[in-house]
Amino acid sequence: VRRIGVLTGGGDAPGLNAVIRAVVKTAIREYGMTVLGFENGFGGLIKNQVRELTENNVVGILPRGGTILGTTNRDNPFHYPVVRGNEKVFVDVSDRIFENVSIHGIEAVIVIGGDGSLAIGKELYDKGLKVVGVPKTIDNDLSATDQTFGFDTALTTATEAIDKLHTTAESHHRVMVLEVMGRYAGWIALASGLAGGADVILVPEIPYNIDIVAEKINARSQEKKKFSIIVVAEGAKSIGGEMVVNKRVEDSFDPVRLGGVGNVVAQQVESLTGKETRVTVLGHLQRGGSPTAFDRILATRYGTGAVNLLAEGKFGRMVCLKGQNIEDVPLGEAIGELHNVPINGELVKVARQLGICLGD
Ligand code: F6P
Repeated sequence: VRRIGVLTGGGDAPGLNAVIRAVVKTAIREYGMTVLGFENGFGGLIKNQVRELTENNVVGILPRGGTILGTTNRDNPFHYPVVRGNEKVFVDVSDRIFENVSIHGIEAVIVIGGDGSLAIGKELYDKGLKVVGVPKTIDNDLSATDQTFGFDTALTTATEAIDKLHTTAESHHRVMVLEVMGRYAGWIALASGLAGGADVILVPEIPYNIDIVAEKINARSQEKKKFSIIVVAEGAKSIGGEMVVNKRVEDSFDPVRLGGVGNVVAQQVESLTGKETRVTVLGHLQRGGSPTAFDRILATRYGTGAVNLLAEGKFGRMVCLKGQNIEDVPLGEAIGELHNVPINGELVKVARQLGICLGD
């Protein structure tokens, strides 16, 4: 393989630039390859928006959040929106990708993305494109890897937010509710709640009973603890209830976040306990900023690992972390079941043993 393409797809995550940098450096230095970067995810592959990436292009990007290539949740080549008359219809434009790849003499493409982008990568692979995947998402919800890059940074940001909420909660004797991201998975909520010393952690995997949450807050008052911290995953739902607002709209969550589950929990807690309550929706702060050292290293290992796979001719696979090692799995496995918090797993048990209320 002499000429390779690379793209970043789906929501951004801290560490994307670290992967791009590692891909470029490894491909050029180790294998003498030429690297072309496609802009804005699969959109660049479809619209032929591409530029060569040299080592000069990746100078200084290791600690930078975002992606120098741009990204988008849209532009699925197998379900691409076009306007016909007054109507928007979805068509398969994947042939354009094969044309563009052949125009540039690209032999293989590295897709850096979450479940959505990797599923598209798999479909393209099945159609004949040589693809290698790199697992990205702050949600950490891919089952084929022990950890995605981006998660550690989001977790660190959420933990810092909880630390800050503690001091203001303590001063005002308030209940503070922090809503964090994670889509259908509670990894960010559970891990940041543990790291930040939350009193209540609500995750999608364990439907909550708001009366039990209120009891926990009241019990803390009786123990002379004058404030409480509740961390709520955006996908959390009450027993028998539905996700409040974060329903899937086409390929992404509803971007109009009109008061998510955090607001609902805060209002209910205030009315059930009579305690002054405030809510913070951490939102896209969790996706921004500089990656942690852990994410920089993981992203770098993934980038180098992906190029190694291409050089070995191992296509249709995704790099992953298993224990301490970088390994690889078939793309089909990578986009299988989402990796949710195991409700009887060790982290949940630890939380319970500490007396953290999980709402059940
Ligand atoms: O998958 C990453 C993620 O940040 C989720 O945690 C969140 O639900 C979603 O993306 C937000 O998407 P958008 O940036 O399109 O609002």
